[in-house]
Amino acid sequence: MACSLASFASPVPLGTALAMIFRLLPLLLLSAADEWEPLRGILQLYFPIRDMAFTAGTAQGRRFTFEKGKTKTSSPLPMASSSKFPVAIAIAGVVSDGHLSFDTFAHEVFPWWSSSNSDSRSRVTLRHLLSFTSGFYWPDASGFVPCLGANASQYSPEACAKEIYQQAPFEFEPGSTWSYNSFHLQVAGAMAASAAKISTQELLQRYLIKPLRLNSTQWLGGENPGLAGNMMTTADDYDRILRAFVGNELFPEAISTEMERDYLDGVKVSNASTFLVTLLGHYSMCNYFECFPPKLQSFTESCRKRNIHMDAGLFGYYPMVDRSKGMYMQIATATMPTSQKTFYAPTIASMALRLLSKFWVDRALGVQEEEMEENRGIDAVWNLTEGLLQKSGLTNTFSSAAAVWAGLKQEELMV
Ligand SMILES: *[C@@H]1O[C@H](CO)[C@@H](O)[C@H](O)[C@H]1NC(C)=O
Ligand SMILES: *[C@@H]1O[C@H](CO)[C@@H](O)[C@H](O)[C@H]1NC(C)=O
Ligand SMILES: *[C@@H]1O[C@H](CO)[C@@H](O)[C@H](O)[C@H]1NC(C)=O
Ligand SMILES: *[C@@H]1O[C@H](CO)[C@@H](O)[C@H](O)[C@H]1NC(C)=O
Repeated sequence: MACSLASFASPVPLGTALAMIFRLLPLLLLSAADEWEPLRGILQLYFPIRDMAFTAGTAQGRRFTFEKGKTKTSSPLPMASSSKFPVAIAIAGVVSDGHLSFDTFAHEVFPWWSSSNSDSRSRVTLRHLLSFTSGFYWPDASGFVPCLGANASQYSPEACAKEIYQQAPFEFEPGSTWSYNSFHLQVAGAMAASAAKISTQELLQRYLIKPLRLNSTQWLGGENPGLAGNMMTTADDYDRILRAFVGNELFPEAISTEMERDYLDGVKVSNASTFLVTLLGHYSMCNYFECFPPKLQSFTESCRKRNIHMDAGLFGYYPMVDRSKGMYMQIATATMPTSQKTFYAPTIASMALRLLSKFWVDRALGVQEEEMEENRGIDAVWNLTEGLLQKSGLTNTFSSAAAVWAGLKQEELMV
């Protein structure tokens, strides 16, 4: 220090000093004005995903927009499972309006739902349905009864709920076991719509689409939309949803808090869903309680404190809300896996990008930065991807990071 002060003190002709300052000025201004440049570089260089948009911001508004390849923030994209969180937000609005509570029993809304103690279904509540612990089971992450198939639009939402009640496998005592499938949310939507005496489509309009002015958002399936996976939207619209959620714009914070609880604490995980927990984290209401490295047994205290929630979809969409820092960000993409075997390749590619990018988002937003556990430059992409494969037990499916990248179809799903 003393040494550099001494050298500063040595006489420099005034003209030279001014010239130096003027030469440095544009650089100084640039670095101050463009705190997003490191992130932009990483997104541009992130070769596993060629077509994508990315946005980030806080409750006050969006602060960053990025587009690459064919995907614009205005491109309509199929959300797959990233449909779930927005539906839960709309249903939470119905709760906030007092039409029912998270602890309302299904039999209190549907006259045909058993209220007999001897039928475990009598104990199903809206909270169980929204946290996927109601007892409905399916051997994979989907769920099939005829009203969720090709003829879905011929059903009313309530008739579909009744068909699920009658035909879907019901395997667990409500509240005891987490099982990820499409049944719970379809019933929850019908339940909230019936309680509010409106249709499911009207519920989505009134509690989400209209208040947030989402002009490019819809759920396919006519009067009986597939709630768990049939959302079509744009990054522009999803950005508004994330911003409203982090800002508690649609309902009070007490309701958001219910939606962000850890519903897997002390709860068993069904054999069909163990892998999802291992890969993605615990579950809140239609959003994952994110945890890296995700582990079934050790959902760590630091994950709990970070309080980050996301709703990853099969095609790599990765919307996220960081409650502890009051920020949100999203990776907007619709990348298809090349085969059944590489089903999770788009999700893993987005998870690696999330790990690479969030530090730089936090820094540019001026919130406290995420701890850097390792190098978060683009050259860490191989290590990060391999780490994800190892930690989630996927090394039999993907022998290397390159196998993940080869498992991605590089065409955008345009609809
Ligand atoms: C759908 O409904 C039509 C007639 O309404 C029927 O012929 C067809 O078999 C149904 N398809 C499925 C998959 O249930
Ligand atoms: C949707 O809204 C956005 C922003 O509010 C606007 O820029 C865009 O033009 C609108 N699109 C349509 C189709 O109205
Ligand atoms: C998985 O769990 C379901 C529901 O409890 C059960 O019916 C099925 O036999 C189990 N499958 C395996 C392979 O353990
Ligand atoms: C990748 O991991 C290895 C082994 O842990 C480490 O030595 C190397 O520095 C890492 N490379 C990058 C780019 O992070």
